[in-house]
Amino acid sequence: MSVPSFSADLMARTEPLYERVKAFIPSIEWPAFADDIEAILRLKRERNAVILAHNYQTPEIFHCVADIVGDSLALAREATKVDAATIVLAGVHFMAETAKLLNPGKRVLIPDLHAGCSLAESITPADVRLMRQRYPDVPVVTYVNTSAAVKAESDICCTSGNARKIVESLGVPRVIMLPDEYLAQNIARETGVEIIAWAGHCEVHERFTADDIRQLRDGHPGVIVLAHPECPPEVVAEADFAGSTAAMADYVGRERPARVALITECSMSDNVAVEHPEVEFVRPCNLCPHMKRISLARIRHALETMTHEVTIDPAVAGPARQAVERMLAA
Ligand code: 13P
Ligand code: SF4
Repeated sequence: MSVPSFSADLMARTEPLYERVKAFIPSIEWPAFADDIEAILRLKRERNAVILAHNYQTPEIFHCVADIVGDSLALAREATKVDAATIVLAGVHFMAETAKLLNPGKRVLIPDLHAGCSLAESITPADVRLMRQRYPDVPVVTYVNTSAAVKAESDICCTSGNARKIVESLGVPRVIMLPDEYLAQNIARETGVEIIAWAGHCEVHERFTADDIRQLRDGHPGVIVLAHPECPPEVVAEADFAGSTAAMADYVGRERPARVALITECSMSDNVAVEHPEVEFVRPCNLCPHMKRISLARIRHALETMTHEVTIDPAVAGPARQAVERMLAA
């Protein structure tokens, strides 16, 4: 690891960036961050690289080095428009795989190969084949939070931002929706479509309970509660609104609630709060250990060494890309 070469000049150069995130980063920590940020901004130019960052990335990544930010759907859509030769995905492995599927000719790097996802871990391609055998002729909708090999066994993908639309677009009374059981239950309730689910859960969102929300309302009168649809249905039922991370951010921007709680990963509130200092964020949140494996230091290392490159078996990439492209076209 390089020794931070912090100086008054560096502080002056990075002051506008620090202004954005100072509510979340103590000034004593900024010198080390500033050194990495300057290096990353230079390396991006030298390497012809862009950084795509998910809404759960920490503020110094999200607000200081990312070129494109968003939810899983926005990152997939934006990945189709990138001109740069290299994409660094500041997020988890399935997001980097999706970017690679949509950019087979570009180099896609993930700063930490172990940035996984409990949902992606919960299901294998063999499991999907078994579901197809058990329910022949029922279309398979796969959440993007899966490996490319699982996507390759599916008819179409979805994200939390378009799950309802994708399920409805199929125009059938019954679908298999994998692997998030709670998302499937939440969408079944919204659409009236019968959904055959899998018992996968997000380790971050499954920990919230309906009682947490009731206690939150007792302790914070007037709070508007926004929940991610990976939360259990009883949590979503207690919330004022449920939507993807981008939908939650949009809600805050549109409605400007005086007091809000985002029932999701912790960095989400920090990132939205930067844009809306007038809103009070109440923070019952859970950290995603996978998202938190990505740091400025690891992004810098990825660009210095051009690692870790994401590759996908061509036999898997073709059908997996088709499932993602069907989603984007729906
Ligand atoms: P979004 O698509 O809503 O950003 O969610 C991704 C994710 O991993 C949520 O846990
Ligand atoms: Fe996966 Fe949950 Fe982390 Fe999102 S928050 S990456 S769904 S474990």
